[in-house]
Amino acid sequence: MYIVTAAAGGRRAGCLVGFATQASMDPERFMVCISRANATYPVAMDAERLAVHAVTEGERGLAELFGGRTGDEVDKFSRCSWEPADDGTPILSGPPTWFLGRVLERIDLGDHVGCVVEPERWHGGGPIAQLTERDLAEIEPGHPA
Ligand SMILES: Cc1cc2nc3c(=O)[nH]c(=O)nc-3n(C[C@H](O)[C@H](O)[C@H](O)COP(=O)(O)O)c2cc1C
Repeated sequence: MYIVTAAAGGRRAGCLVGFATQASMDPERFMVCISRANATYPVAMDAERLAVHAVTEGERGLAELFGGRTGDEVDKFSRCSWEPADDGTPILSGPPTWFLGRVLERIDLGDHVGCVVEPERWHGGGPIAQLTERDLAEIEPGHPA
């Protein structure tokens, strides 16, 4: 599981994402799929970059905030610790493993849009025990699908 954050036009957004995968090794590409229904969607569509944070045991609270609440109702970024990257993309302070990358392409996949990201800046990278969808099954998605 990942928490994907974005900034565009003075707006910030982010949500918990399970639909995500490494998509190419050479060149390095990663794809995250964002639901068209989510408050994150319009921001992620306008953003030049996305930050992708791996979720480990220590981030259950963050996973609940970003996966169980919607930016339509709460300001998630007033409820957690983060810092803006040079371009304003919010980097969450808790997760030790994340990358920031440019969105190269957006692919219509149906009710989700696949954002193909070229990682530009990494943090962490050691072995981690990343949580899976099953580990977070108790979280009720904050935005209706
Ligand atoms: C286990 C789990 C997996 C999820 N996977 C995705 C996903 O892959 N893509 C996505 O856009 N939303 C996914 N969601 C839903 C959003 O994280 C959730 O609805 C969130 O509250 C949306 O926040 P927003 O409206 O502020 O964008 C998932 C939620 C949960 C609980």
